[in-house]
Amino acid sequence: MRILLAGATGTLGSALIPMLLAEEHHVLGLTRSAAGAARLAALGAQPVRADIMNVEELLAALDGRRADAVIHQATAITGVPFLHRHLYATDALRERGTAHLLRAAAELGARRFLTQSFFLGYGYHDHGEQLLDEDRPFAVLTGQRGFDRHMRSLRSNEDQVLGTPGIDGVALRYGMFYGPEPATLRLINLARRRRLPAPRPSGTVSLIHIHDAASATVAALHRGRPGQPYNIVDDQPVTFEAYFHALAQAAGAPPPRQVPSHLLAALPYLRALMVTTHIRLSNRRATDELGWTPRYASCHDGLAVLVARTASAH
Ligand SMILES: NC(=O)c1ccc[n+]([C@@H]2O[C@H](COP(=O)([O-])OP(=O)(O)OC[C@H]3O[C@@H](n4cnc5c(N)ncnc54)[C@H](OP(=O)(O)O)[C@@H]3O)[C@@H](O)[C@H]2O)c1
Repeated sequence: MRILLAGATGTLGSALIPMLLAEEHHVLGLTRSAAGAARLAALGAQPVRADIMNVEELLAALDGRRADAVIHQATAITGVPFLHRHLYATDALRERGTAHLLRAAAELGARRFLTQSFFLGYGYHDHGEQLLDEDRPFAVLTGQRGFDRHMRSLRSNEDQVLGTPGIDGVALRYGMFYGPEPATLRLINLARRRRLPAPRPSGTVSLIHIHDAASATVAALHRGRPGQPYNIVDDQPVTFEAYFHALAQAAGAPPPRQVPSHLLAALPYLRALMVTTHIRLSNRRATDELGWTPRYASCHDGLAVLVARTASAH
């Protein structure tokens, strides 16, 4: 297949490229920078330079090219978002960015379209103990202005991709990424310096190792049912407190210092993410339909391997 990959230089894009090339796909990797283009070429992808938010520039850069599939993994998140405004650029990539990439898909002749979605689209609140499947309401507005802006963009992204005639669209509702990626490495570093605080009480999240997110994406490219969203998460949701303990343990550091959660009151987005939201996702549809299973069933497995590899690389 010929595949246009947006977000090719990012955390997930970089993990995806070798997997796609191993299956002998041809990867057109989008990037805005010369440095990104050089990195993509070194990886074996064909770089295409354009800003997704500029539709004329995007279409001009792709003029005359053909592709079978488009994968949208572009985000503008830098580490853990503390404040609502840290997500605004990503919100735009999920609305206008998706619209522009759908225009590009039409020009390229691509029917298949995979898009990055997000587990917190089920809502930033306490969902109780049960595992949520994809039939649960997604991206519902709650009247909380800060959160509704993100929900609108998640809704827009999925509606466009799953609902455009002539497009075989699939949405991948990834859990929280961890693994060889900047946010996890920063947390491990903090744990080693005894500066990783564990909020107590803490919220619950579903995680996904970055390599498992990439392998699920490849499986969805082949077997994702058009019009369907898939939860892409591991088997064992964790509290943030347990996740931070696992990080410290894997890094050989002492347990993180507990801090009372009310100290996060001034950071409403971070507080919702790390304290008040309890969300556990089922990966049943992905395992049944995509023929995919996470290599790392829990973050304990994934972190142990990550730390061992990082140590042997030094
Ligand atoms: N589910 C999750 O937990 C989740 C989801 C997303 C991100 N994150 C976290 O956030 C951090 C950063 O993640 P990331 O890898 O997505 O970010 P990143 O490393 O900054 O990469 C973002 C990608 O999007 C592309 N991009 C952004 N805006 C673009 C635009 N206007 N036009 C074209 N391409 C554009 C970038 O391309 P160029 O810069 O090369 O142009 C790059 O390839 C990581 O720690 C990651 O784990 C977590």
